[in-house]
Amino acid sequence: MNKIGIIGVGAVGSSFLYASLNKQIEADYVLVDAFFDYASAQAKDLNDAACSMANNGSKFFAGDYNDLKDAQIIVITASVRPKDGVLKDRLELLKDNAKLIIEIGNKIKASGFKGITIIASNPVDIMASVYQEVTQFDSSRVISSGTILETARMKKFLSEKINVKAASITGFVIGEHGSRCLIPFSKMRIGLGSLKDWLANGTITHEWLDNLNQKVKDEAFEIISGKGITNFGVGENLAEIVQAILTDRQVVYSLGVKLPDEYRNSGIYFGLPVILGKNGYRHLPKIRLEEDEQKIFDDYSAEIKETIIQLLDDLKIEHNLK
Ligand SMILES: NC(=O)c1ccc[n+]([C@@H]2O[C@H](COP(=O)([O-])OP(=O)(O)OC[C@H]3O[C@@H](n4cnc5c(N)ncnc54)[C@H](O)[C@@H]3O)[C@@H](O)[C@H]2O)c1
Repeated sequence: MNKIGIIGVGAVGSSFLYASLNKQIEADYVLVDAFFDYASAQAKDLNDAACSMANNGSKFFAGDYNDLKDAQIIVITASVRPKDGVLKDRLELLKDNAKLIIEIGNKIKASGFKGITIIASNPVDIMASVYQEVTQFDSSRVISSGTILETARMKKFLSEKINVKAASITGFVIGEHGSRCLIPFSKMRIGLGSLKDWLANGTITHEWLDNLNQKVKDEAFEIISGKGITNFGVGENLAEIVQAILTDRQVVYSLGVKLPDEYRNSGIYFGLPVILGKNGYRHLPKIRLEEDEQKIFDDYSAEIKETIIQLLDDLKIEHNLK
């Protein structure tokens, strides 16, 4: 039986677990939270759901770091609460969550864990950078959920607009999970055509397309203004990532990964399409963006790199970033 650890079983963590159960990802799930009784209650509730399924041997139990040594995957969704209870900017969680990720990273390392870590705590790319620096785990085995959710949102809007199923749209949002993400429209394909064909036949306009990136960035806050949190979209995407790893799917997703040397601002975690399988992620050949897209990507990654270096220096964590 696979073993999956989850650190932080609040709204996002529990939605991930419920999505995993419903995707038939059979495993022993170890729930670790700052509040053990809360994790225990979540486990009981999920075991009720598992027992209601005819063919699902998944088991959920509250545990601690000692239980994670032989896990294949650990998902981290632990987080401090946003100020005033409602998130307005992911970077507001930066310092407090970095301290929390350092503490969690050290405990995971000490447990002897050798598997793959997926980080969803915000700001995800920076948290993945901090975690990888602290644990020194192989970077291909440390992943942030990155722009997988932005990619889903982009496809959702485009799918509604042109009435083509989202899964039939090939395209990715890249960059930061946050305000510094971008959509390389030049690379998007629907069937064998590009967006130019849909512009030419008048289904979409340049103005609509210009607005799409902003709509994708705003969607989290639209949801938060209505229900206070976002959980189902990210929960489903985390379960999708876990399933792809366990089944060695070799599928391309846009995830937060360590930028390789051929990219300017290499060494930081940032959203890029990569190939995902049982050993973590592999990079695709370098994406050849249009000049204007490349400039935005480089400017955004430079801003995140500066923030990460400042943070690591403030927290006195050794690093080789320049
Ligand atoms: N990556 C994405 O796409 C995405 C989407 C939505 C939310 N998020 C982020 O996910 C994180 C979790 O959001 P949420 O709504 O589930 O929050 P939440 O407050 O409901 O849950 C956080 C959980 O972490 C636990 N926790 C806190 N400190 C801990 C520690 N030291 N060890 C173990 N557990 C600890 C808390 O007890 C709580 O149960 C936030 O940072 C949020 O911004 C990411």
